[in-house]
Amino acid sequence: MFPAEEGRQVQLITNNRIAENNEPTPPGAPAAQPGVRAGAPRAGLVSNLVPVQASEIALGRPLRHSVYDRNGQLLLRAGATIAIPHYLDALLANGLFFDQAEVDGERCAAEAPSAFAQAEKLLRSLQQVYVQFAEDADRGDLPERIRQIAGQLMRACGEDGDAVLAALHLDRLTPYRVHHQMLAATIIELTTRTMALAEGERLPLVCAALTHDIALVGSDPVLEGLRTPLTEEQRAVIRAHPRCGVEVLSSRGVVDAIWLDAVAQHHECMDGSGYPQGLRGDAIGRGGRLLAIADVYSAMIRSRPYRGNAFFPQNVWRDIFLNRHKYVSELTQLVVRSIGMMPPGSLVRLANNEMAVVRSRGSGALGARVVSVCSLAGVPLPAPVERDVTNPAYAVVGKANNDQFRSVELIMRRLWLAG
Ligand SMILES: [Fe+2]
Repeated sequence: MFPAEEGRQVQLITNNRIAENNEPTPPGAPAAQPGVRAGAPRAGLVSNLVPVQASEIALGRPLRHSVYDRNGQLLLRAGATIAIPHYLDALLANGLFFDQAEVDGERCAAEAPSAFAQAEKLLRSLQQVYVQFAEDADRGDLPERIRQIAGQLMRACGEDGDAVLAALHLDRLTPYRVHHQMLAATIIELTTRTMALAEGERLPLVCAALTHDIALVGSDPVLEGLRTPLTEEQRAVIRAHPRCGVEVLSSRGVVDAIWLDAVAQHHECMDGSGYPQGLRGDAIGRGGRLLAIADVYSAMIRSRPYRGNAFFPQNVWRDIFLNRHKYVSELTQLVVRSIGMMPPGSLVRLANNEMAVVRSRGSGALGARVVSVCSLAGVPLPAPVERDVTNPAYAVVGKANNDQFRSVELIMRRLWLAG
């Protein structure tokens, strides 16, 4: 069972970062109305702003209109939900605005949601599916809803795979099982795109990734709370979950062999040490081999109660290659090439002691585009700045964790939300 709250809590900055980030008003610019930045808007910014009153935003309710900072920079799109009073207060204190044209109906949040926002929405959709599945396992619409989410994820990846990866690597609030399967599905989609598989071939694999641990959903509350080694009974549940997952999906009408085989084989290993069948090498289908890699990666980059902190992506890949007898096949390099050694949303420390986030993929650690956002102490930079990590002065020297980026979460989100 997952938390009852449907809407993901939107984490927003709690200091004065928005006010500090104002650009100076250009000389000769017209006088601003109180609290509203005047002057020529930068490209992509909204200029006709109307202040938001506290009474116009309800906690836990979707926003009627998109909201902007005083510079006209998009903060949250219409439909987003703010669930934490503290954050809403901080936003209002910093100055929060609607776009007058949108309020007047001249523009209805016309732009399609960014791929970043779509990925966050898809996490909520998948969470909802699993909440309802946990409450009523007999629901018959599970396969169709999973196909819908898979199709939307595939479109978002086609639009901006960097943004989807970033949304998932920055996410901290989505329950583990939902996040794990969504990230695995994203990895599958991006890798099978690299392989130039047709959409019809990719869809069942993405569906498999979204459901590969469906048989563990009911066991999650117990497994998540574990601080001790598994009991024999718990071990048996885990070893059976690929087979049980196939049974669950089949009983709800899934007949696609690619989908079912990938679920059945996602814990098989190349050296035969996996489960439940102990298949070896080519006896494991392409879907099962791909999903096994995506599963390991997705599991290791999230912290778990019984294992401790999350691994840094580069270290996950190192571990996978060190365990090459288990996981490495001709597909592994393809997966790494498709999402990167340091996928977007990875948090790093640079040689100059700036804290940075990976903005977009590259062919390797040195190819990724990296943007510095704050100091080692978490103090925001005047503005995000892209760093050339091939320059020794800005080389990546270590990983960072989300806690060090609390004050700049919104600034980082804008890197993808603003397109
Ligand atoms: Fe699994």
